[in-house]
Amino acid sequence: MSGMTVYFRILSYLHEYRFRLIVACLCAAGVAGMSGLYAWLVQPVLDEIFIARNQLLLTVLPLVVLGAATLKGLFAYGQAYLMSYVGNRVVAEVRQQLFGHFLRMSLPFHQKHSSGRLVARVINDVNEMANAVPNVIRDLIQQGLTLLVLTGVAFYQNWKLATALLVVMPVSTYAIVKIGKRLRKLAARGQESMGDMASSLKEGFAGIRIVKAYGGEHVEQQRFAKGNATYLRAVTKSAQLGALTSPLLELIGIGGIAFIVWYGGFSVIDGQMKPGEFFSFLAAMFMAYAPLKKLASANVFIQRAIAAANRVFEMLDTEHEFVHDRGRATLPAISRSLEFQNVSFRYEGSDDPAIAHIDLAVEFGEVIALVGKSGSGKSTLMSLVPRFYDPSEGRILIDGLDLKEVTLASLRAQIAIVSQDTVLFDESVRANIAYGRPDASEEEIIQAARAGYAWEFIEELPNGLDTLIGENGVTLSGGQRQRLAIARAILRNPPLLILDEATSALDTESERKVQAALAELMKNRTTLVIAHRLSTVQHADRIVVLDEGRVVEAGIHHELLRRNGVYTRLHQTQFHDVPAASTLP
Ligand SMILES: Nc1ncnc2c1ncn2[C@@H]1O[C@H](COP(=O)(O)OP(=O)(O)OP(=O)(O)O)[C@@H](O)[C@H]1O
Ligand SMILES: [Mg+2]
Repeated sequence: MSGMTVYFRILSYLHEYRFRLIVACLCAAGVAGMSGLYAWLVQPVLDEIFIARNQLLLTVLPLVVLGAATLKGLFAYGQAYLMSYVGNRVVAEVRQQLFGHFLRMSLPFHQKHSSGRLVARVINDVNEMANAVPNVIRDLIQQGLTLLVLTGVAFYQNWKLATALLVVMPVSTYAIVKIGKRLRKLAARGQESMGDMASSLKEGFAGIRIVKAYGGEHVEQQRFAKGNATYLRAVTKSAQLGALTSPLLELIGIGGIAFIVWYGGFSVIDGQMKPGEFFSFLAAMFMAYAPLKKLASANVFIQRAIAAANRVFEMLDTEHEFVHDRGRATLPAISRSLEFQNVSFRYEGSDDPAIAHIDLAVEFGEVIALVGKSGSGKSTLMSLVPRFYDPSEGRILIDGLDLKEVTLASLRAQIAIVSQDTVLFDESVRANIAYGRPDASEEEIIQAARAGYAWEFIEELPNGLDTLIGENGVTLSGGQRQRLAIARAILRNPPLLILDEATSALDTESERKVQAALAELMKNRTTLVIAHRLSTVQHADRIVVLDEGRVVEAGIHHELLRRNGVYTRLHQTQFHDVPAASTLP
């Protein structure tokens, strides 16, 4: 996108606030007018008071100046307040929009963009954009108008001299635009490395235990140092260029003044110009210097803001998965079957398919255990059901309807996922359980917690359901976290359950409770479970064995054992369990 397009797009957000903006512009015009008045007043002060010694004007003029100053102050206040009001609102809106957009982006998108970079987009880029709206609009409009009015005064006092000066302007403008372009590039680089730093920070802090245990402090610091160094280079260069702008302008300004003094001096000595006119002209020029300088630094901000806005809009323009969602039908409550027909899937950028030619029909209410070596494609197969990815080949049907024909929302509403690594939010226990059903009543939440064998420990917590559990539930034990995640799925009560059993066994007591909770969860629904426990495969209606993305065996535990094939070997090595799980009430 070109700078102009981006800027107009930013402006399009302002439509809603047009009334306030108009008032703000009027205020800006007022400020500009008062500045012009100051410059113009120099003439009567000099010619009438100092030279003609007019007594009446001597008393009137100071009052006029005071009045003008008061008005200018009021206008400046109104203008600044209204512009920030609008600017901050626009930025808040964009930030909200961007986060919402990211949440709707597909899984492949999130795998391609590190979370750190996305964080940087929402926080830093939007902040940079923030400068574009209040500061820049203010500077552009107010300083621009002031400059215009002052130029007007200069022309009024002596148009020939003013014209001569105007010729010099384009030269300085060119230099400023050049510098602006370079600044924009630097800003982009700076923001990218900010994203890299955010990534290192996030991973370093989130993985703090591992970092410490493996003595990774040094490695993490080095990773961070890379982004930090790039950022440092970009900001240093940018500061250097920014610092160049001021002296450059000053030089041009002083050159102009020198010229005025020389030429104007001639005119006054020649008698073509009154001293008052000359000094008024000079005052206008002196006063024009500040707005000119501000316009130039506004340019620095504009360039940075445009660079940031460009990245923000680029992201907003990438289509999220609900746009790709061609499904129109609402999926009715699942009641019959889930069917994979010749399904293959290959991850973007990899050569081999992760799963290939899967045919599998599941009846409603069945428990299907998926087993297989690590990397055999179990998780991949599961992630096709909620359409985190779409099959590269073949199709998946629910009750005879192709998944692609139903809306994502109605599909996902019927699925609960309990994953290998439980995901909890830094919220209360209540909010975590009710995550999939925010409208659930206290009663229902407690019931779900009981069914998930979580109530017993929730009761012991200092604030019960309202206890905050920390980031990803750091204040809970592994088993407690799992049971909370199970309670969450129970409360959602979906017809289809996708379960990725944790690979690591918990201690006996905790493991039993988790198993009992899982058994409760699987009741009365279709369950696809990636099984790591013997008890799960033993109780499954069917076991499907995957190897290198293909179904190699299927059947029940004893049959498969007798076959003495892949399953038998898995059975000997893979399943961990705690005996006598079923004796729990
Ligand atoms: N996001 C991804 N991008 C590219 N390849 C992937 C991605 N996720 C998984 N794979 C590859 O796809 C294959 C199947 O992985 P998958 O996660 O489905 O295995 P799995 O059976 O769940 O293994 P595990 O028991 O270890 O969880 C593996 O070869 C893996 O390297
Ligand atoms: Mg897996």
